[in-house]
Amino acid sequence: MPPAARPSFLYYGHSTVGVRSVGGRFILIDPWVQGNPMCPEKLYDFATIDAILITHAHMDHMGDAVALAKRYRPEKVVASFEICGWLESRGVGNLAPMGLGGAQDVLGVEVTMVRADHSSGLLDETGQSARFIDGGVASGYCIASPEGFCFYHAGDTALFSDMRLIAELYRPSLGFLPIGDLFTMGPRGAAHACKFLELAQVVPIHFGTFPVLTGTVAAFLEEVAALGIDCEVVELAPGDVF
Ligand code: NI
Ligand code: MN
Repeated sequence: MPPAARPSFLYYGHSTVGVRSVGGRFILIDPWVQGNPMCPEKLYDFATIDAILITHAHMDHMGDAVALAKRYRPEKVVASFEICGWLESRGVGNLAPMGLGGAQDVLGVEVTMVRADHSSGLLDETGQSARFIDGGVASGYCIASPEGFCFYHAGDTALFSDMRLIAELYRPSLGFLPIGDLFTMGPRGAAHACKFLELAQVVPIHFGTFPVLTGTVAAFLEEVAALGIDCEVVELAPGDVF
């Protein structure tokens, strides 16, 4: 059997995606499993976590970051400078802070932090009362493996026309895009994102977890079809490997 030409993906539900690189390393994007109503219980435990990537500070994206980083000791924990500072104060090591537009090597894949139009307040519950502290800016990631495969995890974002620049600079063929509406783009915006990004394949994420995230895959399929673009919608259920 020839070696896999691209990483494989395990979907945990909501925005949490596990990436198995061609070299066999495991990278967890937006670590939220135990509090994640979409995540099957059998996925709470990991064999290893070699790296963690965090798109922004909201709890539905990094709710388990501290616990998982302490338990599995990943070689790199990638997030904004501000999130990394907070994680360090909570005893997490191996932090690899970065900012929008920058790239760094993470276990043999090139990770570029890209723009997201969203907020990133960090709800700090240390001490007596909870308060929001600055989590830096929200982001997405473009992740390019040495085999020449690049994918994009958008995090939480609205549609923005500079997604065309992401297409031009990084050429992702696969995207994980939020479609749930209310806090992010909905099906219509996400369909236009597929067009701007020139994606061959898209996995819809960040919908249905809570009743308020009303965007559906059916509506997204309609919007993609209405644009007449050649982009395959890949619907993953939590627990699916792709
Ligand atoms: Ni968010
Ligand atoms: Mn979110």
